[in-house]
Amino acid sequence: MHIVLIGATGYVGAEFARQIETRGYRLTTVGRSSCDIYSVDSLTKVLGEASSDVVINCAGYTGKPNVDACELDKTNCLAGNAVLPGVIQKACESLGIPWGHVSSGCIFTGTRDDGTGFTESDAANFSFRQNNCSWYSGTKALGEEVLSDAQQCYVWRLRIPFSNIDSPRNYLSKVQRYENLLEAENSLSNLPEYVTACLDCFTKRVPYGIYNLTNPGSVTTSQVVAMIKEAGISTKEFRFFNSEDEFMRLAAKTPRSNCVLDSSKALAVGLRLTPIGASIQQSLNDWVRES
Ligand SMILES: NC(=O)c1ccc[n+]([C@@H]2O[C@H](COP(=O)([O-])OP(=O)(O)OC[C@H]3O[C@@H](n4cnc5c(N)ncnc54)[C@H](OP(=O)(O)O)[C@@H]3O)[C@@H](O)[C@H]2O)c1
Repeated sequence: MHIVLIGATGYVGAEFARQIETRGYRLTTVGRSSCDIYSVDSLTKVLGEASSDVVINCAGYTGKPNVDACELDKTNCLAGNAVLPGVIQKACESLGIPWGHVSSGCIFTGTRDDGTGFTESDAANFSFRQNNCSWYSGTKALGEEVLSDAQQCYVWRLRIPFSNIDSPRNYLSKVQRYENLLEAENSLSNLPEYVTACLDCFTKRVPYGIYNLTNPGSVTTSQVVAMIKEAGISTKEFRFFNSEDEFMRLAAKTPRSNCVLDSSKALAVGLRLTPIGASIQQSLNDWVRES
């Protein structure tokens, strides 16, 4: 298989590139430095010349060091998360190339009224339409709206990526590095498993559409802390904010999404996602400290 990867220079893109190469597929990378990716004509030309079997978009604007930064760079964030997916859609559809888009679970907050996780048929409830969200989440929800009629397209929702490799971008590392933690319940994605599931969508010929690619279940921050301590990875005295209000007052500029997603649609089509507790445990067992 020949894959064009847009956004290979990022945290998520690097894992795609690693797995594409491990599988022995042919990889062509496309990014802002090599092409005007916001121009349908130039992107169509580049993708047409590459003549790949599929295209994967993992470019997007995340905000560094966190989503607060998106509030100060709204144009780039809107462009990267909402405009770019539409440009890629036009280019891929004009060439008839199947493609996948890295989306986010952060377009939801909380759980369904009955306490279960949101499914792919639930509408985003943390978006500009509710006027309750961060700029980042709003733009990610718009990106999905843009793709609502996309052809031959997977929309893969990633949520709070983690792995066994210590890194400032890994949630299990972030938990250890924050001065104070916010207690919250979330679904999370083991990044290598997420990427494997995305690539498997093409090889298993999974029906196109939206997939919540989070590890089944959810965890609270204190459960993650307990697992980190139990694994002997940190002896730190972890401190928590007293409330979300205190977190918002002292540490954040924009609301955060904390949410539970239901990944049973992905499991039903044969994608492999380990239950969240076991997946975190495995990452901690195989922990590789940053050198
Ligand atoms: N990491 C997370 O916690 C997380 C969670 C859920 C979903 N996601 C989604 O996953 C995708 C990748 O995230 P990441 O963590 O890999 O981010 P990242 O490490 O910041 O990498 C972002 C990638 O997108 C490109 N990019 C950034 N801003 C852009 C813009 N305005 N226009 C076009 N390209 C742009 C960058 O390319 P250059 O080399 O040109 O800068 C880079 O390749 C994003 O869509 C993000 O929303 C991430």
